[in-house]
Amino acid sequence: MRGKVAIVTGGADGIGLAVATRLAQEGARVVIADIDEEAGEEAVGDLRQGGSQAEAIRVAVAKEADAEKMVAFTERRFGGLDILVNNAGGMWGPSFPECTPKGWGRVLDVNLRGVMLATQLALPAMRRRGGGAIVNMASMAGVGTLPHADPEYAAAKAGVVRFTTTLAPLSVREGIRVNAICPGWVEGP
Ligand SMILES: NC(=O)c1ccc[n+]([C@@H]2O[C@H](COP(=O)([O-])OP(=O)(O)OC[C@H]3O[C@@H](n4cnc5c(N)ncnc54)[C@H](O)[C@@H]3O)[C@@H](O)[C@H]2O)c1
Repeated sequence: MRGKVAIVTGGADGIGLAVATRLAQEGARVVIADIDEEAGEEAVGDLRQGGSQAEAIRVAVAKEADAEKMVAFTERRFGGLDILVNNAGGMWGPSFPECTPKGWGRVLDVNLRGVMLATQLALPAMRRRGGGAIVNMASMAGVGTLPHADPEYAAAKAGVVRFTTTLAPLSVREGIRVNAICPGWVEGP
């Protein structure tokens, strides 16, 4: 990881913060891209205290302008981009079909559209480095045929799984690995 540059979306808390911390400990320079600016700054303060180079940027991952800003900021600040961890996600409010179309739309936007946007914008930056790695935080909710309490979340994560697997040939063509992680339940802070 030494010398590598990584973006972790949703890196201010939970699994993303653990990922960002580990990447920093391994020597990567880390950009925490989170909608919670204050928590992002706090996380970056901790990483810097540990001797790492880190930056925070406020990003709402489903917004194209924010995703553009995130990649441009990273290249400007650290000279390139090697690793993108698409971790921001979650489920909010009542589940389908009780939620409004706006409610399930938000879940699809953050969990799936956010991953696709950041990936699309990161690829040219990784090509400029001659390769890279993209890690998408999916979920066991998106795999197989198990029931799940949040259909809109499961649908979004299933989308992330297939988006990831269909991009796998990029590793052969361009040296850009695209993988997904499917955690089960993880206790947050
Ligand atoms: N915790 C679990 O049990 C579990 C299980 C499987 C998968 N996951 C997935 O792992 C990822 C992280 O989950 P967690 O439990 O650590 O979540 P968390 O709620 O603890 O942390 C999520 C972080 O993402 C940020 N965030 C939320 N919306 C955002 C947006 N639109 N743009 C940018 N940042 C945003 C939040 O501010 C927060 O810092 C998610 O994709 C989640 O779906 C979690």
